[in-house]
Amino acid sequence: MKLTTAFTRLALGSAVMLASLGPVQAQEEDVKIGFIVKQPEQAWFINEQRAATERGEELGFDVVRQRGRDGQEVLSAIDNLYAQGAQGFVICPPDVRLGPAIMSRAEQYDMKVITVDDQFVTSSGEPMEGVPHLGMSGTKIGQQVGEAIAAEMEARGWNPEEVAALRITNNELPTAVERTDGATQALLASGFPEANIFDAPQQSTDTSSAFSAASPVLSQRGDYQHWIIYALNEESVLGGVRATEQYGLAADDVIGVGINGSGAAFAEFSRNNPTGFHGTVAVSSTMHGRQTAEDLYRWISEGQEPPANTETSGTLMTRDNWQEVREELGL
Ligand code: GLA
Repeated sequence: MKLTTAFTRLALGSAVMLASLGPVQAQEEDVKIGFIVKQPEQAWFINEQRAATERGEELGFDVVRQRGRDGQEVLSAIDNLYAQGAQGFVICPPDVRLGPAIMSRAEQYDMKVITVDDQFVTSSGEPMEGVPHLGMSGTKIGQQVGEAIAAEMEARGWNPEEVAALRITNNELPTAVERTDGATQALLASGFPEANIFDAPQQSTDTSSAFSAASPVLSQRGDYQHWIIYALNEESVLGGVRATEQYGLAADDVIGVGINGSGAAFAEFSRNNPTGFHGTVAVSSTMHGRQTAEDLYRWISEGQEPPANTETSGTLMTRDNWQEVREELGL
């Protein structure tokens, strides 16, 4: 059955390719958009793409889900979308500095573009203003992380002087910098000593790169018994938590608070024994996917330009309330 479907799809696919002489002649009312993400295997992005597809089914447009893990993949995804007659795409780029190159390819094809999560930057590193964007309010959400960690430290009766912070950073990505800076600000405001914060720069925004970044920092600072962990997302905080486990720290000695509120966090909260992963600030990836897909659809079909910049907010999710928050945010 599956094979047959796959074959039919393939056959249909090549029919589309053959007919691609005139993709621009596609009927006006048939809206097709791409939804390209940098990490298609990450729970956040799986949910975001699924939500976009569902919105398309509700409103009557097609969503082609694609991955763009590097510049090459993104450009070929765009070529492929054009060949299929798509009029635009939503994208979370693998590197925000690809913005100008992506926009020039899109303009060549007369495609409309909205960025989600990670906003393009210009060659001088400024946000690319002309491209509508929807993403987290990084600083605020980061502050919520810092506040949640400070509250949990107090609940555990830890003396901040004896606690080390593992700050997993990603300095190439502005939203990541906003999030970790926001958390740092809130921690400092709560009286956490700046000298106890240690950076672990990660290469990419996932668990394995955070694990690799965290391990050496833990062994260099073996004199601390209590650790707090924060990063741009929960996948990275989980990498840090896994590194503390491998290093031999007990769950009671670790407080990690992430950001996202997706499958990775749910799996952690569902374990019988609590780990050092204390919580995460959940943001609705469902809303991010639905809203951007709908905005692009209306832009294409009704000429209604999307808001230049939409910032979304978050809710702290812990072992105690995760199911309620999940429900509330439609996750
Ligand atoms: C970045 C992160 C993702 C997720 C999104 C949400 O892209 O890499 O894990 O946090 O932001 O905006």
